[in-house]
Amino acid sequence: MVYNANDNETVDNIQYDAVELSDIGETVQIRKVWMPTAQAWSPVYTSLNTPFSFDHYTSPRLPVDLGPFNLDFVENIPRVLRLTIKPVGSLILHIPEELNPAVSFIKQVVEYEMMVNPNLEDCEVHVTTDYGFVPANGTQRFPGWHVDGLQGGKFKNKLVAEHSYIAATNNPTEFCVQPFFIKHYDEDVTNFFKTFDQQAKNVNIYRCLPNHLYLMDAYMVHRTPTIIQDTHRGFIRITVANAPLPIEHNTLNPMLGQSRHEFKLDIRDWLREPDQPIVYEYYGLEAGNITVEQIAEMNANSFKTFNQTHASEDSKTLSEVNTASPSSKETLLEKRNKAVQDIGTFEDKPLTPGVTITAESRTYPKVQPHSPTYRDMVEEFNPYKYTNPRIPIDLGVANVEQIQATPNTLRMPLKWWASEEIHIPKEMLPIKSLLERIFTYDKCHNPLYFEQVAHITHDTREVEPGKTHRFPGFHGDDLQGGAFPEKEIAAHSYILTTNPATEFCLQPFFVAHVDDSFERHFTEFDKQALEENIYTVKSEHVYLMDPYAVHRTPLEAGEGLRTFLRITFSTPNMLLPHNTLNPMLADRQEEYENLPMPHLHETRWTQASDRELPHQMYGISR
Ligand SMILES: [Fe+2]
Ligand SMILES: [Fe+2]
Repeated sequence: MVYNANDNETVDNIQYDAVELSDIGETVQIRKVWMPTAQAWSPVYTSLNTPFSFDHYTSPRLPVDLGPFNLDFVENIPRVLRLTIKPVGSLILHIPEELNPAVSFIKQVVEYEMMVNPNLEDCEVHVTTDYGFVPANGTQRFPGWHVDGLQGGKFKNKLVAEHSYIAATNNPTEFCVQPFFIKHYDEDVTNFFKTFDQQAKNVNIYRCLPNHLYLMDAYMVHRTPTIIQDTHRGFIRITVANAPLPIEHNTLNPMLGQSRHEFKLDIRDWLREPDQPIVYEYYGLEAGNITVEQIAEMNANSFKTFNQTHASEDSKTLSEVNTASPSSKETLLEKRNKAVQDIGTFEDKPLTPGVTITAESRTYPKVQPHSPTYRDMVEEFNPYKYTNPRIPIDLGVANVEQIQATPNTLRMPLKWWASEEIHIPKEMLPIKSLLERIFTYDKCHNPLYFEQVAHITHDTREVEPGKTHRFPGFHGDDLQGGAFPEKEIAAHSYILTTNPATEFCLQPFFVAHVDDSFERHFTEFDKQALEENIYTVKSEHVYLMDPYAVHRTPLEAGEGLRTFLRITFSTPNMLLPHNTLNPMLADRQEEYENLPMPHLHETRWTQASDRELPHQMYGISR
């Protein structure tokens, strides 16, 4: 194995030859230029200058593809390890002459960084390069799942997380894009890289494109691939860090007058592999989801498939991957499609006026403060965000009997736009305190609370075993298809169900290529969803969720009533016809009827897309 060096991970294994660089070279002032920001919505940019937090690992993100680059120069420069080219407090690059062939590449990367990072001057920039022969079945770099820049117990006060630009000439880096549940482990003693190894599912592995440059942050779990055939591989990484990383083996930059760092014990020698189970409840999910042992078993079964998929640089179609997956996906899908869709019959008995209240202005702590849901509730709907899955936010239990004491309603407005008033008809009074709680939370955390409308759907009914209470397929609530040629601010909802609770599929979905004027997004969700990535939330808990949380109603197993409650906040343009009327908003009735209402309901007017998934559009291959 030609495993030579491993980024920050197991410093004691580094075998970089001490390369002596020259004290003359290029001194480059970093220019301020404008260029488009690739995937500007990506959470990479949102968390760029924020302290490291374990919270981010449950909403995984893809690395940002910055396009193709010619990496031939990597062959002609010495191998350097964390060579500082820009110290903290300066905007000048110091590139020793041995790295001349890399200068224009480095300049381009740092100029991009200058554009997206207003704090670049306060950061250190260092470069790692590697070119060499890698035999079949070997790896060029650190072989396990890891991230660059994880801050464990050594950092009691977390620093701004580092991020890097990486590129490889062939056999590019592999990313495992799925939630990782690691926050509940003791950061002082846990080897988090081992938790990644325990939890990574082979079905969630994506590979970068060769000779493409990627922006990656400390929350993207990745590894260097195992090489299938003998090859020469070139790799380059440019890292932007908030503080220098003084490690003995770093290549020194004589242009900066650096002297060798002292030997340090590696903290990782003291850490241990966690042997506790994943505590799903901690993350708002129901207990009893998949265990690390089951993941290992699943991976053993899919290992062959995985290697076959990656042996060639050609992308496999997703259906091929799915068919080969160990679960009986097709059978399940067939079974689900037979489930009769039997969505609410609403009696529409006229309601009577009740009370008008306003939500208190209170400061509620933000639950799951780093969830992308908070950012996305003020941004326009963007289908690329389906590549960034998120767990709905668990806001705790509610009293189901009170909900069941109210009539069924369909998207009944409770709060009109540009208004603070919440109009609760008399029949809905049993849930007045629940509504107060939800509206107060929303007012505290939704900057558009005042402008938006809020409506309620309540559906309590008996559902036959084998059928579904509500929409059976995977979907996102208030997904904006072709009915919204100009996208509105994404809606968000507070939902609750009794057993069986809603199932969420936490994996990236690729739907931005779908022509939403005539193709159906929901079908893509069903095609792409992997059973391995389905998690159930808790019943009788209120969850905050956005359109990007892909979910479905489970098949009914038992008997008795099932309750569904949803309160949605959206722009007024997203109200749909056929709502239950709120008698207390009767004076707004005319306004309501004149809304520019979209009458194209996506699932009714559009067809399934039968196109193959253009993975390259998303900067990855499978
Ligand atoms: Fe790495
Ligand atoms: Fe839904």
